[in-house]
Amino acid sequence: MKRLEHNFYRLLHPKVVFLLTSVGKDGRANVMSCAWATPASEEPPMVIVCVAKEHYTAELILETSEFVINIPNKNMEKIIWICGSKSGRNVDKFKEAGLRTFKGKNTEAPLIEGCIGYLECKVEKFIETGECYAFLAHVKNCMVDERYFVRNLWINDSVPMHLGGNKIVYF
Ligand SMILES: Cc1cc2nc3c(=O)[nH]c(=O)nc-3n(C[C@H](O)[C@H](O)[C@H](O)COP(=O)(O)O)c2cc1C
Repeated sequence: MKRLEHNFYRLLHPKVVFLLTSVGKDGRANVMSCAWATPASEEPPMVIVCVAKEHYTAELILETSEFVINIPNKNMEKIIWICGSKSGRNVDKFKEAGLRTFKGKNTEAPLIEGCIGYLECKVEKFIETGECYAFLAHVKNCMVDERYFVRNLWINDSVPMHLGGNKIVYF
């Protein structure tokens, strides 16, 4: 066995990559690509999402305690790279990536048109985990495009998965 000095977390990939939307107190929204997330409880429905402290997204989530997980479709890979390489501090990534949004039921953070799944989440608490904040949040509303999610399973080849680095595969 090889001893891995770095990148231990890559052993836990691939992970579903999603577009994480957030909004500040002033109503300004942002979107970033994100892969570090996990279900945390089924009853009540909860998730944990890990965001680097330096990201604009972390600042906005700390302000309003909510976010939306938007699961992109297969044709949105370019959008994933745009939203995962620029900061909303400097650019309007919705404009830059050509994204249209709509309002959800439970959050002010926007939902992105064309995605195949949505989880609207309200943060209960966060912990500092090294360079990240781990946000534990209640899933207040969950919606899925039934064309891609059949009998409670994603159908083959519909969801982007981050292997690490610049590699995305589809499951
Ligand atoms: C495929 C992919 C997955 C990513 N996953 C995460 C993640 O899980 N957590 C994180 O903090 N950043 C992640 N990033 C990096 C952020 O998306 C990136 O740094 C982004 O520019 C931050 O934007 P913001 O400053 O507007 O919040 C990922 C990037 C890509 C391309």
